[in-house]
Amino acid sequence: MDKGAEVTRVLGPGDTEEAAALLRAGRLVAFPTETVYGLGGDGASDKAVAAIFAAKGRPSFNPLILHVADEEAAARLALLPEGALRLAAKFWPGPLTLVAPARAGAPISLLARAGLETVALRVPAHPVAQALLRAFGGPVAAPSANPSGRISPTTAGHVLAGLSGRIAAVIDGGACPVGLESAVVGFDDAGAARLLRPGGLPAEEIEAALGAPLLPAGEGISAPGQLLSHYAPRAPLRLAAASAAPGEALLGFGGAAGAALDLSPAGDLREAAANLFAMLHALDARGGAIAVSPIPERGLGRAINDRLRRAAAPRERSPA
Ligand code: TXA
Ligand code: MG
Repeated sequence: MDKGAEVTRVLGPGDTEEAAALLRAGRLVAFPTETVYGLGGDGASDKAVAAIFAAKGRPSFNPLILHVADEEAAARLALLPEGALRLAAKFWPGPLTLVAPARAGAPISLLARAGLETVALRVPAHPVAQALLRAFGGPVAAPSANPSGRISPTTAGHVLAGLSGRIAAVIDGGACPVGLESAVVGFDDAGAARLLRPGGLPAEEIEAALGAPLLPAGEGISAPGQLLSHYAPRAPLRLAAASAAPGEALLGFGGAAGAALDLSPAGDLREAAANLFAMLHALDARGGAIAVSPIPERGLGRAINDRLRRAAAPRERSPA
C-alpha cells in the first residue's frame, strides 16, 4: 500500500462539521472515541467501506461497527432485543457494542456487515465523536484506526504514524480515556446475551445490568470475523472459474466475457470489494450455482479471495 497518496489533514476538536463534509464526500476521517481512535467512513456506502479496508490493509473483511449518536438512531437501524435495550439504557453512550438483526432496508453497507443479517452498533460517549455523528447524521462505520495487525491507536499521533497519507483527515481530540476497544455483546435466538469480544466495559458490569451471566461467544463466533460472522450464499460457489458452466451464473472481474455481473469491469479491486457482497446476494437470489472469475491475490484482492474461499467452503464448516 503506497504511502503519501494524499495529505492527511489534522483537524481540531471543533472541526466536526468539516469532518462530516469529508465523510459525506466518501472520504475517510479518523476520530477519537473514549475507547480508541476509529477510522470512519460513510456506513451506508460500500465504496467508503471498501476504502476503509484498503486503508487498513485488512487481509479479510471482518464486519465493522456502525457508530450512531444515540439509542434512537440505533433502533432505527436494528431490531434491538430486550436485553440489548436494557444494556443500551444503562451503558450508552459508552464502550459497549451491541450486535442485533438489521432492519430491512436500513441504510447500512452490506460490506460493513460482511454480508450478515446482523449489525454491530455503538453509541460512543466521547464529545468529539458525538459532535461528528450529529453533524454527519448517518451511521459511521469505524474499525480501530490502525493498519491491520498493528495495535489500536489511542492518540492522533498513533493514527498518523500508521495511516498518514492514506486517509483524508484525523480529528485530534487528545488521548482516549478507555484505550481498549468496546465490549461486543450479541444475542442468541432465545435472547440470551453472549460476550463476543471482551472490551472496555467489564463483563461483570454487563452481567449485573442483565441480572444473568454472559454466555461465552459460542461455537463459531468466538473470534472476531470468523465463521458465523461470515456470509455464505445458499448457492454452490466455484472459484477461479474461466467461464460459467451450464447452470452457473458468472460473477466476473475485469470485464470477463459472459459475466452475469462484473465486480469491476475495469479490474479495480477497490470497486470489486465495494460490490462483492451486494453482487453475491443478487446472484444468490436468482437461485442456481455461481462461478467467480479469478481475482488477483494482491491488495484488497487478498481480502476478496479470503471472503470468497470462506463463502465457497462446505456448509459444515470446521473451525479455521
Ligand atoms: O471500541 C471499538 O469498538 C472501536 C471504536 C473505533 O469504536 N472499534 C473497533 O472496531 O474495535 P473493529 O472493527 O476493530 O471491531 C469490530 C468487532 C469485531 O470483533 C467484529 O467481529 C465484531 O465487532 N462484529 C461486528 N459486526 C458483527 C456482527 N454482525 N456479528 C458479530 N460480530 C460483529
Ligand atoms: Mg482493531
